[in-house]
Amino acid sequence: MINSSQLRRQYLDFFANLNHAIIPSSPLVPENDPTTLFTSSGMQPIVPYLLGAKHPQGKRIANSQKCFRSQDIEEVGDNRHTTFFEMLGNWSLGDYFKEEQLKWIFEFLVDELKLDPAKLYVTVYGGDQSLGIPRDDQATELWQKLFASRDVEAKVVEQAQEKGLQNGRIFFYEGATNWWSRAGQPANMPIGEPGGPDSEIFYDFGEERGFHKQSVFADQPCHVNCDCGRFLEIGNSVFMQYLKTEQGFEPLPQLNIDFGGGLERMLAAIHNEPDVFKIDLFLPIIEYLEEISGKKYQENTTAFRVIADHMRAAVMLIADGVLPDNKDQGYFVRRLIRRSVRYGRQLNITQPFLKKIAELVGKIYPEYPHVLLKADTIGQALHHEEQKFLQTLVRGLQEFEKQIIIEKELTGQLAFTLYETYGFPLELSIEEAEHKNFPLSAKIKEDFQNIKTQHAEESRTASTGMFKGGLADHSEVTIKYHTATHLLHSALRKILGNHVEQKGSNINGERLRFDFTHHQALTEQEKQQVEQQINEWIGADLPVTKQVMNKNEALEKGALAFFAEKYPDEVNVYTIGLDPQNDWISKELCGGPHVVNTGEIGRVKIVKEKSAAAGVRRLYLQLT
Ligand code: SER
Repeated sequence: MINSSQLRRQYLDFFANLNHAIIPSSPLVPENDPTTLFTSSGMQPIVPYLLGAKHPQGKRIANSQKCFRSQDIEEVGDNRHTTFFEMLGNWSLGDYFKEEQLKWIFEFLVDELKLDPAKLYVTVYGGDQSLGIPRDDQATELWQKLFASRDVEAKVVEQAQEKGLQNGRIFFYEGATNWWSRAGQPANMPIGEPGGPDSEIFYDFGEERGFHKQSVFADQPCHVNCDCGRFLEIGNSVFMQYLKTEQGFEPLPQLNIDFGGGLERMLAAIHNEPDVFKIDLFLPIIEYLEEISGKKYQENTTAFRVIADHMRAAVMLIADGVLPDNKDQGYFVRRLIRRSVRYGRQLNITQPFLKKIAELVGKIYPEYPHVLLKADTIGQALHHEEQKFLQTLVRGLQEFEKQIIIEKELTGQLAFTLYETYGFPLELSIEEAEHKNFPLSAKIKEDFQNIKTQHAEESRTASTGMFKGGLADHSEVTIKYHTATHLLHSALRKILGNHVEQKGSNINGERLRFDFTHHQALTEQEKQQVEQQINEWIGADLPVTKQVMNKNEALEKGALAFFAEKYPDEVNVYTIGLDPQNDWISKELCGGPHVVNTGEIGRVKIVKEKSAAAGVRRLYLQLT
């Protein structure tokens, strides 16, 4: 039976044979995308091209994209949710559409992977009158023909949520269920965001395994979108054809396909194994945990799954440059590590055990050689954070002892404060209180949960705001900042020297943050010179030109590349200057977009400069 590397290869070969260019995975942290902290689907880096920009590799693209979904952290523990995963994706940028997509993906699953077509079920868009978007009868007909070609009965049914499967194979769900955009359902999409109806494919592990009967949904009818675990979504074809505008939904200039299928989940289906944690991408971690805990996976699935998922994700995130921190992306890495330590204690692992996992994950992913190459430093980072948290737990215990003497009772609020401030888990608070014979307030778990939910809602509101505040309202501003990033990079190299290299950047509607290698703080004079230089270039109205060229040729011509190895062979090069061949001040490999002329930027000001890490400075720049 095939393993994950073979599946990845097979998928990419299949689409390469259909004339798709295979592009590398983008990093887990998107660059210059203020709308989101992480790359959480394969289409994210493709958005400009879905909107109509020309992709240097053509109109048919495929890849395996590393993804991280922070919103799923608490979901991990069942047999299929993971925070990190790889998404096998293929895109048509105004080229083929529904007919080819559904046919190809069906053939890939049935003929290439040899999945039994009788175990496949699909959903289609049910339409939404209020948006003026009809239900997807075309996809339904296409699916009927495809199943008929394999002698599989394919009845079309509605209202599966209320009425169950009804012997159907093709299901119309109400509008929002089969609609995909980065922001979710149509109502949540900001103006300027693309989206469209989709058609999901599910694999049936079989009623006889009893998933539904044993689940909390047992008293409701089972259907493909039921959460009992019988059906697993393995792929989603999005018909990316609408743009949200002030007036409502309008057709995009081109009809696009955005397909994404979870590598881990497809492999689980091939193995007819409902537990994704049993595939090769987790096995070495599970075996290691069994060895050091002396416990069996099968008897402790939740703890093993949480640690295996979280550590794989943390290692991949650190490999892509995110260190544990108390804010932004780093906050999630910290949470993943802390949760792993806590679940480790449930398995009676009290000694530090995380360091070794960096190497295990590196070996699992020869496709991402930078992980194994950096395994030592990643392991150190894990170990450091783990030790700090172990100390934190000790402090949490001390604080617990102090507070419980004052309050004489463990309340939901006290438990939450300990949890929030020290990461001290509710279960530990309860255990300690019982151990020391202090009473628990009557509804402690419920109170704790309510306070936590309220807290989570507040943070969610904040992150929704982040989505809206970014792309939609400030797209023009974002583009200006993006070009200013190139000017800043170039000015720093000119004034401080060519040892300056971009280490990262982040743009929101308010400012640009730029990290670069340099060993000391900038003097007032240096800051002024950099600022002046950028404003001079802006004042000179320099044209910004884009060329598509071979990567090596671009590098030979002096183009700068922030992480050269991650770019494909054909690249976009943005040059700023009067003549892109002989008279330029900046040349960089970059996905764009940029302003046409530097004059559009206005003026800039350096507002802050500080240290970001050893040998790395951080600079904040604003448009004035
Ligand atoms: N963007 C869609 C998804 O994430 C399909 O690639 O499901």
